[in-house]
Amino acid sequence: MQGEMLIAAENEILENGFLDRPIDPTLDLFAEIEKLKKEKNAVILAHLYQEPDIQDIADFIGDSLGLAEKAAQTNADMIVFAGVHFMAETAKILNPSKKVVIPDFKAGCSLSESCPPPLFRKFREQHPDHIVISYINCSAGIKALTDVICTSSNAKAIVESFPPDQKIIFAPDRNLGGWINRETGRNMLLWNGACMVHEIFSLEKITRLKVRHPNAKLISHPECEEPVLRISDFVGSTTQLLAYVKNTPNQEFIVATEAGILHQMQKQAPGKTLIPAPPDNHCACNDCPHMKRNTLEKVYLCMKYEQPEIIMDETLRLQAKGSLDRMLEISRQVGIL
Ligand code: 13P
Ligand code: SF4
Repeated sequence: MQGEMLIAAENEILENGFLDRPIDPTLDLFAEIEKLKKEKNAVILAHLYQEPDIQDIADFIGDSLGLAEKAAQTNADMIVFAGVHFMAETAKILNPSKKVVIPDFKAGCSLSESCPPPLFRKFREQHPDHIVISYINCSAGIKALTDVICTSSNAKAIVESFPPDQKIIFAPDRNLGGWINRETGRNMLLWNGACMVHEIFSLEKITRLKVRHPNAKLISHPECEEPVLRISDFVGSTTQLLAYVKNTPNQEFIVATEAGILHQMQKQAPGKTLIPAPPDNHCACNDCPHMKRNTLEKVYLCMKYEQPEIIMDETLRLQAKGSLDRMLEISRQVGIL
């Protein structure tokens, strides 16, 4: 695309989040996407919260840690990141020579947005004797102000790689940070951010479900609030929850995380009963509105037009990369990767 067309496309993406072009309704999108993968030497990386069609067409499905590692290793020329913006940005930070596209540029994250870099910089300056560990669900600006990144898969190990008396700021998720504090006996200073999806579960409705299903194991993501985590049988990252359902002999599970995970759980543990934990609203299960902005149609369009693309300032990229590299290094040292 050139000149004026490029500017028009950029404006459209800013407004809509994607290039809204007509798609022939008779096209088999699965076959077309496979064709585009070959033509463009593209790889599709999808988070476990993506809709089932996207998970089924992806080359790799995983949680934030698995996806960051795949993005760092891929030989593809184009990475199609079916997830939210901070995840695609992470892929670009780790792989600057690749084209990284995202189906919908507006697929954000309430947790990432709860930690604006200018405010966090001031907070960090007020505590010069602390190091900073940040959850990967944050912007490149926060990663640049961080010593080590972590994900929910490796947060405990990353924190424990520092001596017990090391003063630590943990950002941006107060629930994950609080859980790590309780698990490790640390007293990390927590940034007051949260995920809108994991904080909305109703303790009352979950308690009622547990009474009705006394043999069900309650499994929760550590982004959930403390009262839910306290009554959980198992707390873990998306991948750890999936493995728990597969490997535990129990037949019934109440699942307190984003509902997209149920697709892989059902595929990998057929026959088990999965009950989505209900949120405190009128819905039966809990979808992340950001993750669910991505659709199979938008995956097709972003591959065809190679837009929206993640573009990043090189100085910021290099500042952010150090904290991600340290996470990958520690994860390999402790055997998590
Ligand atoms: P994980 O992929 O680390 O389990 O995190 C879940 C999440 O909320 C991603 O946005
Ligand atoms: Fe962000 Fe929560 Fe959605 Fe994950 S589930 S992308 S943390 S809003």
